[in-house]
Amino acid sequence: MEQTDVMKPETLDDLIHVLHKIFESDNINVEEVQAIMEAYESNPQEWMRFAKFDQFRYTRNLVDEGNGKFNLIILCWGEGHGSSIHDHTNSHCFMKMLQGKLKETRFEWPNDKTRGDMVQTSEKILEDNMCAYINDSMGLHRVENPSHTEGSVSLHLYSPPFDFCQTFDQRTGHKNTVKMTFWSKFGERTPFETKVSQENN
Ligand SMILES: [Fe+2]
Repeated sequence: MEQTDVMKPETLDDLIHVLHKIFESDNINVEEVQAIMEAYESNPQEWMRFAKFDQFRYTRNLVDEGNGKFNLIILCWGEGHGSSIHDHTNSHCFMKMLQGKLKETRFEWPNDKTRGDMVQTSEKILEDNMCAYINDSMGLHRVENPSHTEGSVSLHLYSPPFDFCQTFDQRTGHKNTVKMTFWSKFGERTPFETKVSQENN
């Protein structure tokens, strides 16, 4: 993963600045983005104002809109919180650890012929500044905080940004389209929206 030409972002602002530069281009080098996000050493003082936990489920907190090219989002996972199995709406998805650990479980797309349980392809623990990458051609995933004593925080980059994704029932493969919501934007609590499904990622 180490690339000699990757500059190490010293701060979160620095990282955001570098990401803006990279995403000016329409040709994204996945390994380069992954390496740069991994190179940023998480400093809680820099992201604490975005990291808002909810007692009952994980939160999505918008950090930066990337000039319309990407969304940068901080997710806060309380003890045992997890997402449903979901896709990424034909976007790139980068997921970097800022604090604690996350378990990522990947699945094959269900097809019309298969019934019953979805097929699991891998399971991985992400920790200590690691940055995972997935897109729809690589399958689906579920993300969860495996700890029962500690919260975890992750930084996600989605490009292009998207508002809807599909979630999947692990037992049947049946899917639902869901709108994704933000718990906060730029450090400010988002006004409560009614009639919006909160299933997502
Ligand atoms: Fe995801």
